[in-house]
Amino acid sequence: MKKFFFSAALLIASALSMGAVETLNSPDGKLSVNFDLTADGTPTYNLVYNGKEVVATSRLGLELKKGKSLLNDFSLVRTTRSSFDETWEPVWGETATIRNNYNEMAVRLSQPFDGKMREMIIRFRLYNDGVGFRYEWPEQKDFTYFVIKEERTEFAMTGDHTAYWIPGDYDTQEYDYTVCRLSEIRKDMPKVLNPDNASTSVFSPTGVQTALQIKTVDGVYLNIHEAACINYATMHLNLDDKNLVFTSWLTPDARGDKGYMMAPCHSPWRTVMVAPTATAVLDSKLILNLNEPCKLKDTSWIHPTKYMGVWWEMITGKSTWSYTDFNAVNLDSIDYKRAKPNGRHAANNDNVKRYIDFASAHGFDQLLVEGWNIGWEDWIGFEKDYVFDFVTPNPDFDIAMLNNYAHSKGIKLMMHHETSGSLRNYERHMEAAYSLMNKYGYDAVKSGYVGNILPRGEYHYGQWANNHYLYAIEQAAEHHIMVNAHEATRPTGLCRTYPNLVGNESARGTEYQAFGGTMPHHVTILPFTRLQGGPMDYTPGIFCMDLSKVASDNSSKVNSTLCNQLALYVTMYSPLQMAADLPENYERYMDAFQFIKDVAVDWSDSRYLAAEPGEYIVAARKEKGGERWFVGGVTNGDARTLPVAFDFLDAGKKYVATVYADAKDADYQTAPEKYVITKGLVTSKDAVKLFMARGGGFAISLVPAGEADKKLKRLKIK
Ligand code: NOJ
Ligand code: CA
Repeated sequence: MKKFFFSAALLIASALSMGAVETLNSPDGKLSVNFDLTADGTPTYNLVYNGKEVVATSRLGLELKKGKSLLNDFSLVRTTRSSFDETWEPVWGETATIRNNYNEMAVRLSQPFDGKMREMIIRFRLYNDGVGFRYEWPEQKDFTYFVIKEERTEFAMTGDHTAYWIPGDYDTQEYDYTVCRLSEIRKDMPKVLNPDNASTSVFSPTGVQTALQIKTVDGVYLNIHEAACINYATMHLNLDDKNLVFTSWLTPDARGDKGYMMAPCHSPWRTVMVAPTATAVLDSKLILNLNEPCKLKDTSWIHPTKYMGVWWEMITGKSTWSYTDFNAVNLDSIDYKRAKPNGRHAANNDNVKRYIDFASAHGFDQLLVEGWNIGWEDWIGFEKDYVFDFVTPNPDFDIAMLNNYAHSKGIKLMMHHETSGSLRNYERHMEAAYSLMNKYGYDAVKSGYVGNILPRGEYHYGQWANNHYLYAIEQAAEHHIMVNAHEATRPTGLCRTYPNLVGNESARGTEYQAFGGTMPHHVTILPFTRLQGGPMDYTPGIFCMDLSKVASDNSSKVNSTLCNQLALYVTMYSPLQMAADLPENYERYMDAFQFIKDVAVDWSDSRYLAAEPGEYIVAARKEKGGERWFVGGVTNGDARTLPVAFDFLDAGKKYVATVYADAKDADYQTAPEKYVITKGLVTSKDAVKLFMARGGGFAISLVPAGEADKKLKRLKIK
């Protein structure tokens, strides 16, 4: 009887909404999107989860630079619907397979303009964990070229929710996060603005970046982002904080225009993830699923990589990237063979060999060497078009000898291309640069885009720069080169289509611990935000937290405990993981370093055991091609104890657990390097409670027990 009433009510509800409203339900029926046209022909949508609106009625459309805009006066031509369900295998990832299951609705609209008609499709894909929708302009007689003045996609919030945000900025994402109510963003904005960029590239006192994590007043987790941003400017969100409505805000080009379009074409997907729990946000594959399948025919040369680097010593200020002193010479006239070395150049033959020896002895795959090439002296903050040529080594870096030496020890060198933001200069030299890599056996490049973009006036996240980053990825693929681009645009899942894009920075990385510090809650937010679009080269693994011990004039402290650093190899998913500290700092704690040596970088299964953005994350992952599991837990600036149940392990099997935990008196400010290692046997029926200090964490490796382990006792955490 009850059931009868329920379905009758549903029937009436859908009958009432018939008319202009087009409804699409998710495969599990819990989420629905309703499309409608207002009286003046403005397209709108709302999003309903478990019978309650989570995105209120929001307008869709774009303002054009010339003539009538794509905002209203639309009529519905027809709606087409379909369903899709597939399971695909990523080349690398958090899980061996990913299910891509959605219902789709394409709404074809027409609009009269200049005595003619044009058409635009709004395509919705509705998943159990969220929606993606995009604008499409099919090939048509009277509408081909257009310039976008602004995209006006709204996301109307239903309450004064909590947001985890960084400022909207056309040139940098390297900010600390703020957690506050939507209505407080305006007040908190000045505290986080980067004064170097504020004048040019921060556009609004209520502008924020995506992926934007939100927790509603009802405790639902929303996440607004975009997927497959190709030939289009990166989207920011600007909040109308009286009405709590976000509107898209695209990155402009040097003229202030926001997109040059030629039909047939489409926008990226605009995405709203809707999740009942924080762990469900971390489980979501919405962004990857909305990207096109892999375009590369042969992916056998792409591989997850654990690496060290001649890097942290420059970041901390102990040594330099440049061979001579900064600003001492002019690249156009310098004779490097005769230039006076400054005596602090890290990428020299002896030092690189020392790192190669250490990295190969401890099972790493690659060694990044920055500062290997000429040009750093000439990079003096002045916007010069030509700084680097990407092919000429410094006189003390013997490129042939060092690559041969590395290969003889079973590792590869990793290339570094700092572009100094000059995209054209990089494109001019790209073929020669990638060919040089092929010649010497490099198969991975870390690229970087520090400084204002050249051509002058362009921004890091405009359509033009976005096209450059993809061009570099495609050219690299031709050369079988994996790319890890720093300061490039924030990822939108393109690594599904181009799996040689193994990493990006695009957020505040560990380097900021050497530039003054980062709040401990940072690593409990990044997986909700930055990592939604793809892996981050976060560069964890710092073991010496007092940086004055590394570089005498660096007074920064790393705001993290040593066990927090270990946990990041599990909580911050990436197929590219660095052990960022110096060999001599690892030598002080070889028992803890064992975890970094052991931890896998590619996974067949991942489980988020507990999470709350801004507070803590606990993740367990199973290595691909093996039976070992690894667990990591991180906390914010609060100490806490969390339970870990081993029920993800194979039933009836014994595992040797090695637990790396903060000591009881550990603390990121007073005793960051204090830890306790405990070993014992566990089965799927066991559980432990683990302490995390302020800014702390824990890491666990779980290895199936062999004969020799039989005498081990059951794991007991004191
Ligand atoms: C900034 C990058 O994030 C860092 O990793 C790199 O070392 C420097 N740029 C120099 O290229
Ligand atoms: Ca950076």
